[in-house]
Amino acid sequence: MTCYANTFHQLDTLLTKNKQYWQFVPFADEGFTWQQQHPEFCQWLQSIDDQSLQQLNQDHDALLAAFEPWIPDAKILADLAKTPSLQKTEFAYPKNFDTGIPGRKWQQITAFNHVLPRLNLPWLEWCAGKGFLGRVLSVSHQQPVISLEWQPQLCVDGEAAAKQLGLDIHFVQGDAFDVSSQQYIKEQQHAVALHACGDLHVSLIKQVVAKKGKAVSLSPCCYHLIQDSHYQPLSTAAKSSQLQLSKHDLRLPLQETVTAGNRVKQLRFIEVSFRLGFDLLQRKINQSSTYLPVPNVQKALLGEGFKSFCCWAADQKGIVLPANIDFDYWQQLGEQRFAVTERMELVRQLFRRPLELWLVLDRVCYLEEFGYNVSLGTFCEKQMTPRNLLIHAERC
Ligand SMILES: C[S@@+](CC[C@H](N)C(=O)[O-])C[C@H]1O[C@@H](n2cnc3c(N)ncnc32)[C@H](O)[C@@H]1O
Repeated sequence: MTCYANTFHQLDTLLTKNKQYWQFVPFADEGFTWQQQHPEFCQWLQSIDDQSLQQLNQDHDALLAAFEPWIPDAKILADLAKTPSLQKTEFAYPKNFDTGIPGRKWQQITAFNHVLPRLNLPWLEWCAGKGFLGRVLSVSHQQPVISLEWQPQLCVDGEAAAKQLGLDIHFVQGDAFDVSSQQYIKEQQHAVALHACGDLHVSLIKQVVAKKGKAVSLSPCCYHLIQDSHYQPLSTAAKSSQLQLSKHDLRLPLQETVTAGNRVKQLRFIEVSFRLGFDLLQRKINQSSTYLPVPNVQKALLGEGFKSFCCWAADQKGIVLPANIDFDYWQQLGEQRFAVTERMELVRQLFRRPLELWLVLDRVCYLEEFGYNVSLGTFCEKQMTPRNLLIHAERC
């Protein structure tokens, strides 16, 4: 068993063992999901004040330390999910080469480029956007680039920019899922995909394997953007796992808590607690125990108060509200439930990166199973992009 397959199995075992702590929908239950089995744990969670909650959300080491007595496997999972930084080779770009490329995107594409080995092969840029990455690959490797992109205007803009810079880049407007796109995947080629969502980068991996492509480098993102209702494992290692991942589960790796300003936090508190309060009310009216999702709401309506929100939501869902509802009571329950769901999400945070590694290692193991030499690491700091993992595979 390779070292990656071994890590995958260890992650898989512990993620499966601890799935009660991450594989659930916090809105589904009225209170803590673990109230029956672990009342003391729930009591402890409830005792975390809002300031500590915020700190734990921002400091992963502190989060692991705080939960160590309750979920000791979380620390082992975090260690298994650690990845090395990939080795960089810097390149000096011509003056003003970054014109028209947003600052953060420029940092990402150059960081991506600097960890790629020099294989002297033509490039294929999968789901290229305006082909920002293709431009830096072209100028630093002096090899032709084919950039496949679905949106016609991005192709036009990308082609024009490449022409102006005198680069050998050719755009192909096409659908990555269509069989006609497979013709662009060649054996003697280095294929790349930076942040091609879900099935889009999976389609590249599968086609590279099928065509025995020499090399592929990709940074996966948006694992939940898949055509099937559940995750379809690629490798035999993941196919033998007991885990079955829903789209909700697949969103977890992307659910990093970002530091928001007070206004944004307050708005979120109002909206989510209104939704949770209305949900409790509708459960009572409908004698139901399932969460009822309500569509997106115009933010101005939230300013009109909880009662207006409930009337609007009831109307959206065809629910007739009885007279004499004590809206203050339901609003308060919604606020209490907000505090509970926030603490349940905090627990799920412990498993965010390990689950991402599980998904990424599935791709890695698949490539290894088909005879590729694979390296996995980070190509930039997470401040530049939290989707900073890069898989590089070369056919032996
Ligand atoms: C998140 S962007 C990444 C763009 C670029 N790689 C980058 O990092 O700047 C994903 C790109 O995939 C393109 N895309 C979406 N669906 C596609 C499809 N079915 N075939 C080809 N490209 C597609 C989108 O139009 C978008 O430009």
